[in-house]
Amino acid sequence: MKEFSEQRLSGRAALVTGSGSGIGRAISLRYAREGANIIVNDINLEGANETAKMIKELGRKAMVIKADVSKSAEVEAMVEKAYKDWGRIDILVNNAGISGIPYLIIEEPEPEWDRVMNTNLKGTWLCSKFVALRMLKQEKKFGPLRGKIINTASIAGKTAFSHIGAYSASKFGVIGLTQVFAKELAPDITVNAICPGFHVTGIYLNSEEVIRESMKQFKSPEILVGRIGKAEDVAPLATFLASNDSDYMTGQAINIDGGVEFH
Ligand SMILES: NC(=O)c1ccc[n+]([C@@H]2O[C@H](COP(=O)([O-])OP(=O)(O)OC[C@H]3O[C@@H](n4cnc5c(N)ncnc54)[C@H](O)[C@@H]3O)[C@@H](O)[C@H]2O)c1
Repeated sequence: MKEFSEQRLSGRAALVTGSGSGIGRAISLRYAREGANIIVNDINLEGANETAKMIKELGRKAMVIKADVSKSAEVEAMVEKAYKDWGRIDILVNNAGISGIPYLIIEEPEPEWDRVMNTNLKGTWLCSKFVALRMLKQEKKFGPLRGKIINTASIAGKTAFSHIGAYSASKFGVIGLTQVFAKELAPDITVNAICPGFHVTGIYLNSEEVIRESMKQFKSPEILVGRIGKAEDVAPLATFLASNDSDYMTGQAINIDGGVEFH
């Protein structure tokens, strides 16, 4: 019987935004182990360089591009450079995101609302748009599709989280955008979203204690599997959505949260 030991992303070029830390880094390293080369994007150059070093230690290529995903000109230049140097992007992971400062929604200052929306929602739109414009024209190299887009939403995009209303609304938006792009890019590109739950990353100051306090503030249900998540818990789902195993799936938003959100 055949062993499932092949690298599922062999030879693919993946752009992972916000991959200088946390979930983006974990996805990048998992993709590299599965045979992909990675374009490491972040506004934090130090973190991005560290991720790139780890990818190279795994024997893959890494290209670092500093760009703010909320800025159209920077995103366009990033995509231009990626295509100029590597010729194609097979996988785009829209991962860059911020939680914003906690406020009750009626007290949310307008600049903070804009900052969260621009990073999480507009950033996802801009990166998807500029990559898709090129992806739609590239040859089908790895099966029936021209490429795959994976958006990082959140379980806060399925059921509201209290006190981070702008974040929650932005992630509902990311799920909506996932469906819009899935419809408009079919049948050439699949677009799916990942909805993580509570994972120890920079967003929670790398602290389980901050997560426990936040869960109370957000009025979140318990984690059924009985532990707080790691960044690495998200990477297998992101790998499945980037691989040919998910070719018959598009427009979906999948929870990976230890059993907090059921829908
Ligand atoms: N950690 C969790 O529990 C959790 C849960 C649900 C969803 N998410 C989502 O996962 C994604 C990754 O977050 P994380 O938890 O790994 O946090 P993180 O803070 O460790 O990583 C986010 C990365 O995005 C980068 N970034 C921020 N704004 C950017 C911009 N404008 N342009 C480019 N890069 C930018 C940051 O510098 C950072 O390296 C986010 O979209 C977040 O909303 C996280």
